[in-house]
Amino acid sequence: MLTRESVEEKLKEVAYPGFTKSIVDFGFVKDIDISDEAVYVEVDISSSAPEVEQQLRDEITKKLQLIGATKIDIVITKPKMPKQSSSQGKNIAPQVKNFVMVSSGKGGVGKSTTTVNLAIALAMDGKKVGLLDADIYGPNIPRMMGIENEQPEVVANKVKPILSHGVEVMSMGSLMEEGQSLIWRGAMIMKAIQQLLGDILWSDLDVLVIDMPPGTGDAQLTLAQSVPVTAGVCVTTPQKVALDDTARSLDMFEKLHIPIAGIVENMSGFICPDSGVEYDIFGKGTTAPLAEKFNTQILGEIPIEPMVREGGDSGKPVVFHQSGSQSAKRYREAAQKLWQKIEQINEEGGVDNEAIQPTTPPGVSACSTGGGNQGGGCSH
Ligand SMILES: Nc1ncnc2c1ncn2[C@@H]1O[C@H](COP(=O)(O)OP(=O)(O)O)[C@@H](O)[C@H]1O
Ligand SMILES: [Mg+2]
Repeated sequence: MLTRESVEEKLKEVAYPGFTKSIVDFGFVKDIDISDEAVYVEVDISSSAPEVEQQLRDEITKKLQLIGATKIDIVITKPKMPKQSSSQGKNIAPQVKNFVMVSSGKGGVGKSTTTVNLAIALAMDGKKVGLLDADIYGPNIPRMMGIENEQPEVVANKVKPILSHGVEVMSMGSLMEEGQSLIWRGAMIMKAIQQLLGDILWSDLDVLVIDMPPGTGDAQLTLAQSVPVTAGVCVTTPQKVALDDTARSLDMFEKLHIPIAGIVENMSGFICPDSGVEYDIFGKGTTAPLAEKFNTQILGEIPIEPMVREGGDSGKPVVFHQSGSQSAKRYREAAQKLWQKIEQINEEGGVDNEAIQPTTPPGVSACSTGGGNQGGGCSH
């Protein structure tokens, strides 16, 4: 006799692909229905990767046959993903479904720390996640992810990302000698960003989270022109002087036609480890008016917690290794809000970078009569 309990018991043996936790423990099983030897199972998964679905179907069928189910009906719902568009926009990493650009007005506000913890939090929710360290001036991600001594593998002129904390990672820091620096000129920046997207063997990712250099410059423009950036996240600290730069960062998203997913207010209050009492150091809640002005939300207020810094220095990110901490909880919530926004953006038609493509090579007039004229309203 098949019962709801026996079916659920069996489904607890089905691990979500890539994890040790089962689909039941993840909360992905939404409905179970039984009549005689027929079983209907509805699973709502968080990844859109086709191999995840196939693996689950096979595994669920196998397990349920063991307890005598003869007719098995499995419905798997997956996150909404961008539609294939017919636009003239560009995507040099088409296997990646969504791109998130994490930026800040200036350095030292916790942009890399936020990027690392958001990426891991998304992976902990069952998504296939990549983390690209595009901060070519200060690539800190390898240290923060605990992979600073690892060499990436090269396969037929392409580089494989390094797997850490369930996330595929690539950084200029992993490709250069330790401590080496480069003087980046415009054309080099463009080439580097394009290679980090196109010449890295990223898998079919649900989302690639990208740590940008601080400010608004060539790297940001190149990224936005090379792939359709689904959403922008802005990291700031609460002081007024930081907010001025943050406004510029948000304005850049608008100019690049990147939907803003929200602001992370980092170093927002300090929780004293001895007493648990919260103190304002840089202020708190100051980003709300800015969020309102740019018609966006606060993804999270992350307090100053010594374990956040320790986690970064030791390559043990707080969201994974101190999952009970206040910061970890807020990073998890921020990642969930970010994902909701990504789904909403895709439901509303997705993004397109056609409008920001370079129209003519530098130095060539748009009205040139030579080959490759892009058209566009030139009067003769
Ligand atoms: N919420 C936080 N609590 C404690 N330390 C933090 C927090 N956020 C960032 N830090 C620390 O502040 C420093 C700067 O952060 P980082 O992420 O490197 O900034 P950015 O990438 O913006 O330059 C790092 O040492 C980091 O560990
Ligand atoms: Mg950084």
